[in-house]
Amino acid sequence: MTATAADLAALIERLSPHHVRALSAYQPGKPVEELERELGITGAIKVASNENPLGPAPRAVAAIQGALGSLHLYPDAGAWALRRALADRHGLDPAQLVIGAGSNELLYQLVLGFCEPDDEVVSHEAAFLSYRLAAGVAGRRFVAAPTSAARGCDVAALIAAFSPRTKLVMLGSPNNPTGSVLSRGDVEAILAALPDRALLVLDEAYAEYAARWPEVDHVDGLTLLARDPRVVVLRTFSKIYGLAALRVGWGAGAAPVMELLGRVGRTFNVGTLAQVAAVAALDDHDHVARSADVARRGIERLRAELAGLPGVTAYPSLANFVLVETGRPTAPLYDRLLRAGVIVRPMAAWGLPTCLRVSVAGDDQMPRVIAALRDVLS
Ligand SMILES: Cc1ncc(COP(=O)(O)O)c(C=O)c1O
Repeated sequence: MTATAADLAALIERLSPHHVRALSAYQPGKPVEELERELGITGAIKVASNENPLGPAPRAVAAIQGALGSLHLYPDAGAWALRRALADRHGLDPAQLVIGAGSNELLYQLVLGFCEPDDEVVSHEAAFLSYRLAAGVAGRRFVAAPTSAARGCDVAALIAAFSPRTKLVMLGSPNNPTGSVLSRGDVEAILAALPDRALLVLDEAYAEYAARWPEVDHVDGLTLLARDPRVVVLRTFSKIYGLAALRVGWGAGAAPVMELLGRVGRTFNVGTLAQVAAVAALDDHDHVARSADVARRGIERLRAELAGLPGVTAYPSLANFVLVETGRPTAPLYDRLLRAGVIVRPMAAWGLPTCLRVSVAGDDQMPRVIAALRDVLS
């Protein structure tokens, strides 16, 4: 007997928890090769996923080559060498560190480890989508404080959204997709208002880029750890270290908090190649410095070139991308840019239907990205 469509629909209805049916799946961008095939073009530039245009840290690539002979062994489940290297670099104890398959995995682990059924995850309307997803997958309520793309996090509105059920407050600094940062004063105010039973999760995936803007007041979450055990900082090797394909990120916090977080992690979640590459990448100072320079230069160039176009605002950013308010629906712009071989990220799924997010490209490719943007936005 073959199941009919109606049989399958009824089966899904019986099988799936309500909160899972309410989820919408993450919409990944199409791979460059797929788009090129569809459109019959070559040499497309992808500036849609905030990847490092300089590629992976060369030291990480060399370290991976040296580790290939041990692929038959399970990885170090405690990621000792990596935690030791991070602890030494940042003046922390290895017990304060947890390693994840990307910092994204740690967002899910935080919800699993700390939220009871009635607890809430709080962020804001212009925040990274994974915060909402991590709460939703676990059936926890996500509360988005009102804000705007121009504002980034509105601290007063965020604090007004706290309740006795608030358990995790998740904030990006720099925030994706706005590129905005939290100042030290912002974070002090948030901590002063944080409900007793809550953690503040500072998602600093772009921290190393922000460090290239010393004149802008922005928080470095790691400096808060010694003072406040309610702070958890997330960082990643996907961005400035150029290791997005390997899936490795880390979290830092008070040792007992991180011990709890570690309990709900999957065993062997981070592979050997990811671990050895991350350790090596930490010492690739030249690659980090060049990547931060390219990002700052690219942001300044993008903002200068788009300034003055009618209805267009390219917001300030301390990351490796710029959020562009185009003042019109972005679907036609996205299509025209595609045909010009430039793949950007439309922001409709983020509740910003007139915005595009444009990652910084390499210096050699920026002129093409800028020319295409100026052409479609003029
Ligand atoms: C703000 C922010 N947090 C976390 C991540 C996830 O990074 P990963 O899981 O690759 O470490 C990203 C990736 O785009 C991001 O923009």
